[in-house]
Amino acid sequence: MTTPRHYHITTFGCQMNKADSERMAGVLEDLGMKWSEDPNEADLVLYNTCTIRDNAEQKVYSYLGRQAKRKHDKPDLTLIVAGCVAQQEGQKLLRRVPELDLVMGPQHANRLGDLLEQVFEGNQVVATEPIHIVEDITKPRRDSKVTAWVNVIYGCNERCTYCVVPNVRGVEQSRTPEAIKAEMEELGRQGYKEVTLLGQNIDAYGRDLPGVTESGRHKHTLTDLLYYVSDIEGIDRIRFATSHPRYFTERLIRACHELPKVCEHFHIPFQSGDNEVLKAMARGYTHEKYRGIIEKIRKYMPHASISADAIVGFPGETEEQFENTLKLVEDIGFDQLNTAAYSPRPGTPAAVWSNQISEEVKSDRLQRLNRLVSVKARERSQRYLHCIEEVLVEEQNPKDPTQVMGRTRGNRLTFFEGDINQLKGQIVKVKIAEARAFSLTGLNLRR
Ligand code: SAH
Ligand code: SF4
Ligand code: F3S
Repeated sequence: MTTPRHYHITTFGCQMNKADSERMAGVLEDLGMKWSEDPNEADLVLYNTCTIRDNAEQKVYSYLGRQAKRKHDKPDLTLIVAGCVAQQEGQKLLRRVPELDLVMGPQHANRLGDLLEQVFEGNQVVATEPIHIVEDITKPRRDSKVTAWVNVIYGCNERCTYCVVPNVRGVEQSRTPEAIKAEMEELGRQGYKEVTLLGQNIDAYGRDLPGVTESGRHKHTLTDLLYYVSDIEGIDRIRFATSHPRYFTERLIRACHELPKVCEHFHIPFQSGDNEVLKAMARGYTHEKYRGIIEKIRKYMPHASISADAIVGFPGETEEQFENTLKLVEDIGFDQLNTAAYSPRPGTPAAVWSNQISEEVKSDRLQRLNRLVSVKARERSQRYLHCIEEVLVEEQNPKDPTQVMGRTRGNRLTFFEGDINQLKGQIVKVKIAEARAFSLTGLNLRR
């Protein structure tokens, strides 16, 4: 079999998957392949999949069906399913879609080159066994030239009763601080300005690395990592996600406050505002503890932006318990909230509980929550009005070529008039003139 010339990757799911896709694209480019925007023009098609909710999983099957059909007319098409559905379904995927050449779990992303070698020898390959994730030596093909993801910890050791992630991403594996720093230094040299450090439960960073301090805590924590990477030439902004309320520390808040490059933006999912529901979810904190964290953040950084995730209609959730979630959202006032109706997932405890909530109730609660979220986000946005915000310019506004777009330190999408060729990658002081729920418009003060 000859090596395919054009590849296409479609990515579903979270930032981890996006980061994995960029590394896999890097591997394919190293093999001499070129990117094709249109999957139907490509001779290698890779779907990097997500299974966090049922609708995410079903989407993959419909995409895959089309490519499987195309393979009947084009037998040299290489068809790959990577990511979380691949890990969840494994061999079963081959039975469902026999046209597949390769099924590979997220831990195998860096091994794409080796796996493809086996495929090109004529094998159908399934790579889903747990492995130690090898440090990557290829250069990722990154979507942006301004902002970049850097993985710091893979996997998750939590057991939230609704969540597939531990099943599909495996146990926690931290990268060494040295490897993370080296990647960030390289990014700085290449002209990147912003790095987002990634982990499903980033507060767990370093727990699996050797070494304890004299006071008995782990030597390498997220807080230590932030100090360690806080002064890399070229990198002006550092973000991190996702935080877990159970492990979030005041030490971390202080580090964010002290380190000028670390942005005042916190993504801390709370999932529910009700203690009974939180307990059934096995989250390991109460809504009081969550409120305490936000209070502390606001004590150090009054204007910090706060985003989160929440689930409605978890098994057994009563109307009153749902209202506790509304109350938390009302009280805290999030800048952004990702909301979802609970979706039972294979292999998770809550999926087989008998107290499931009807789809009607779930969708009603979701709508009510979403309405409140946009009202609160609009209110929160008003604090930017007439203020001067630093915006890191990323792209042209696709809807208006006279404008560029970027993000404030608080992660608000911001538009203003300007030429992308002059401004891309620059941090510009912008006076905010219009504040909508999830975006801002302003004026470049230097003009
Ligand atoms: N590690 C992060 C979240 C990872 S999954 C954390 O601990 O918060 C991203 C989001 O998907 C979760 O925060 C949750 O809100 C949502 N989610 C996960 N499983 C879900 C399920 N079974 N049904 C609905 N939403 C779910
Ligand atoms: Fe899933 Fe919980 Fe791990 Fe987040 S912390 S990835 S919700 S198991
Ligand atoms: Fe989805 Fe896997 Fe991320 S299930 S949310 S792509 S970890």
